Amino acid sequence: MSGDALVAADVRKVYRPRNASPVEALSGVSLSIAEGQRVALLGRNGAGKTTFLRIASTLLAPTSGRVEVFGKDAIASPESVRPFIAVVPQEGKPFFHLTPREQAYTYLRARGFSRGTAKDRTESALAQMGLTEVADRLSITLSGGQRQRVMVATVIATEAPLLFLDEPTIGMDPFARREVWESLRNLTRKGSTLLLTTHYLDEAETLSQRVYIIDRGKLLAAGTAEELKQSMGGTLRVSVTGGRAILPELGTFGPTVQDGESVHVVTDPSRVQELLALAMRAKLPATVGPVSLEEAFLRVVGRSIDDES
Ligand SMILES: Nc1ncnc2c1ncn2[C@@H]1O[C@H](COP(=O)(O)OP(=O)(O)OP(=O)(O)O)[C@@H](O)[C@H]1O
Ligand SMILES: [Mg+2]
Repeated sequence: MSGDALVAADVRKVYRPRNASPVEALSGVSLSIAEGQRVALLGRNGAGKTTFLRIASTLLAPTSGRVEVFGKDAIASPESVRPFIAVVPQEGKPFFHLTPREQAYTYLRARGFSRGTAKDRTESALAQMGLTEVADRLSITLSGGQRQRVMVATVIATEAPLLFLDEPTIGMDPFARREVWESLRNLTRKGSTLLLTTHYLDEAETLSQRVYIIDRGKLLAAGTAEELKQSMGGTLRVSVTGGRAILPELGTFGPTVQDGESVHVVTDPSRVQELLALAMRAKLPATVGPVSLEEAFLRVVGRSIDDES
């Protein structure tokens, strides 16, 4: 019978840096992840993703709140939870003096796998991550994306029941990212559960079955990517560059979200012609596309996920 792999209730974290004011990184986060699910925490820089992931994976103590992993108390007895989890930390790096093959194998042996299993799993994970050709080079000689692949391969090889991945595909090329997504899907088909953080909207959408949008330490929305998009109330998006100048008129076509100087209007297909004509009269370039997670994110958070300001 399957239940919840992770339950977090009202998790709060206040960092108290020396010589600076306290930072409330999480203000009461509650969520649960069913066994076998792939879940993404999506949020801007500083939203609290890493803080949540570190707390849920027993690496950091919360200020208050409760975390259970497969029904065990992860805060009171982290050691009882650790055999069931594996973590790819944000900006983690493989040991520079080990090769990818040694790194994965050593890690598996340290987790208690037999020599034979560790060897088989290592070879399979290296192949899945496209690392076979560089498997015997010292990690210090690898590129940034290759090093990140080594980190993911090592954790995938554990086939742990609950995997935490903090920005797993950062620095990877589009092909490598797809390989990671495929390997992670395979793992959940075998029964593993996945919590990843990302600020790639496409990663959240393609890979995860449930998306939580987090901002300033609070969960603001949850659902499948499809549900989040449907909540926008239309199927098409018309993006008008410089649309802020005619915002009131655009607003008559449906919900609008601002993205810098651009305005995305979510509307019904039957009104697109009329909307494009309006943009043309105002001499503003406009494009049409399906509603994406980006509009949902903009509406919920108020700013684009890659807005630096
Ligand atoms: N050790 C720390 N001491 C003080 N403040 C911290 C500490 N770690 C994180 N913070 C602050 O807590 C907030 C949340 O940080 P966190 O690393 O969880 O964000 P994030 O969503 O993972 O961001 P990113 O996308 O940049 O990785 C930020 O305001 C950050 O500056
Ligand atoms: Mg982070």
